[in-house]
Amino acid sequence: MSINFSDEVFGEEESEAVLLTASYTEEDLQEVGLRPQSLNEYIGQEKAKDNLSIFLEGARRRGEPLDHVLIHGPPGLGKTTLAAIIANEMGSTLRKTSGPAIEKPKDLAALLTNLEENDVLFIDEIHRINRAVEEILYPAMEDKHIDIIWGQGPTAASVNLKLGNFTLVGATTRAGQLSSPLRDRFGIELKLDMYTNAELQTIVERSAKLLSIPIEHDGAHEIASRSRGTPRIANRLLRRVRDFAEVKSDGVITLAVADDALGRLEIDKTGLDSIDRRLLKSIIDNYGGGPVGLETIATTVNEEAITIEDVYEPYLMQQGFLTRTPRGRCVTRKAYEHLGLLYPGHEQMTL
Ligand SMILES: Nc1ncnc2c1ncn2[C@@H]1O[C@H](COP(=O)(O)OP(=O)(O)OP(=O)(O)O)[C@@H](O)[C@H]1O
Ligand SMILES: [Mg+2]
Repeated sequence: MSINFSDEVFGEEESEAVLLTASYTEEDLQEVGLRPQSLNEYIGQEKAKDNLSIFLEGARRRGEPLDHVLIHGPPGLGKTTLAAIIANEMGSTLRKTSGPAIEKPKDLAALLTNLEENDVLFIDEIHRINRAVEEILYPAMEDKHIDIIWGQGPTAASVNLKLGNFTLVGATTRAGQLSSPLRDRFGIELKLDMYTNAELQTIVERSAKLLSIPIEHDGAHEIASRSRGTPRIANRLLRRVRDFAEVKSDGVITLAVADDALGRLEIDKTGLDSIDRRLLKSIIDNYGGGPVGLETIATTVNEEAITIEDVYEPYLMQQGFLTRTPRGRCVTRKAYEHLGLLYPGHEQMTL
């Protein structure tokens, strides 16, 4: 029996282009050349890297495929990059797809049966695969076989197909949304954290070198510290600042050039953009700083709740500008101060 899979199953999902979102945009296609190819080139994430290198070494010594890996963390931190590195380090081929692209169980069956021995199958946004597809994944991951119903009506038959060795690498921004039977089938779980400014500076300097952009350490540090702990944003800001350096100056990214360019892009010293500020201000102006529910905030600032939760909130919380309470989101004193506003309850002291 031959099962064919369509192009769309391997297609990449893209979201709209916004400068400061960590989501993937059209321009990021240029970043392919910036992607580290080996674990040694992959900067930061020391904990995940240390563990992964041991598991890779163990699997290589035994001549076995690597156990299935789940990578989770906010957008733009290097999940896809890490999946490609895993395939490289194992000397295997990476086959890419994404949760929403696999519509039917038979799409996944086609993907799995078309894998070559020891291939790495990468499923991005794995939390978005549907239930019926997920059921195919369980025995595939556990016992390397799939059961599918083939045909319709009276001629329908249950077919059991044996699979070769493969490693499934799943990536998700929302590990909490994965069902526990699926999550339990990953032998390795890697959690990516936001990068430190020093790590991001190294990434900016590395990218600048690859793109032949002249940059001073101070300039790289400035871009790094305004990149929300996210390599994708750091690389994007580097390209934008380069434009200013070339057009308004002599092409070299110095601290002054970076500061001026980022100021013009309305990215403040901590990396907040106009949407972040609008979000915090609207909670302050309309709801006395909170608590207020996510849906209400979303309506007020005219963004989708899921975008706020995935893209804006992680950084605002990491910076201590926003907290999540059982009754809703609250703006912190630090945020009031950052925005140059008076923290309520303290008027008398300051007056
Ligand atoms: N550790 C790293 N060292 C150097 N560059 C990195 C690192 N991690 C990511 N990058 C750079 O950041 C970009 C974004 O990374 P990547 O596409 O892997 O993120 P992602 O987590 O898969 O994002 P998404 O959730 O949107 O799919 C890459 O193109 C790469 O150049
Ligand atoms: Mg990705």
